Amino acid sequence: MTNKLKYFIGNWKMFGDFNSFKIIDKINRYTSKHKRSKKSKVVLCVPNILIDFFRKKLKHRSVSIGAQNCHHEQGYGPFTGAVSAGMLKKMGAEYIILGHSENRAEGENSSLIKKKVESALNQKLNVIFCIGEKYQDKKKGKTFSVIKRQIKESIEKKFNKNKIIFAYEPVWSIGTNKVPNINELRAVIKFIKNDLKKSFKTKKTPTVLYGGSVNQKNVKSLSLVGEIDGFLIGGASQSAKKFIDIIKNYYK
Ligand code: 13P
Repeated sequence: MTNKLKYFIGNWKMFGDFNSFKIIDKINRYTSKHKRSKKSKVVLCVPNILIDFFRKKLKHRSVSIGAQNCHHEQGYGPFTGAVSAGMLKKMGAEYIILGHSENRAEGENSSLIKKKVESALNQKLNVIFCIGEKYQDKKKGKTFSVIKRQIKESIEKKFNKNKIIFAYEPVWSIGTNKVPNINELRAVIKFIKNDLKKSFKTKKTPTVLYGGSVNQKNVKSLSLVGEIDGFLIGGASQSAKKFIDIIKNYYK
């Protein structure tokens, strides 16, 4: 991986209740104990109902807490069941996942995701923006064009790129135990970084993570892709032991 700050971001998805505090507590104790050694950052994106509870209950917090989605409108409004970026920020979220393929599959399109990104950035949340191709796209050799389009359609030039972390999550690798081969993965991550630099005319290298079936067994080989700046971890972040096994090489 690069020398930049390395991110290990857990996405709990629809998992967790008040008893799950023990999971985040264990992870937080681990990162607090080892925090001097490496430039790593751990974030857990949890269901909205747990954000405030975890934030208040965690002692000496070295783990940051994030959310997993928001409504695109700012502030308050007549949107039954919805939660805005501002409300999440007030609850203590520092990060937010947007554009996740599971939400795209539920009907979120690029223009809606763009509004959400803008709304989250206005609230000074760090955005974890997910991109990635479906298996059919990959088979047709369309990986690069899909990713390029997803970025172009939702990330405006005026957005503060310093507050956006890009997460490459091929849809076919999520929850399937399948990961891209190392050479393919390297090529995609390089492509994303180059595309971002070109499109936004910046010399600063963007932060790009990989997500999809990351576990304690494959993290070592995935880390061989030096261009990766960290991982977005689903299932394995729901267990303190599995998550700590993933991060421990970076926290010695
Ligand atoms: P898994 O790690 O369970 O494959 O999920 C990845 C993911 O969707 C993270 O956002």
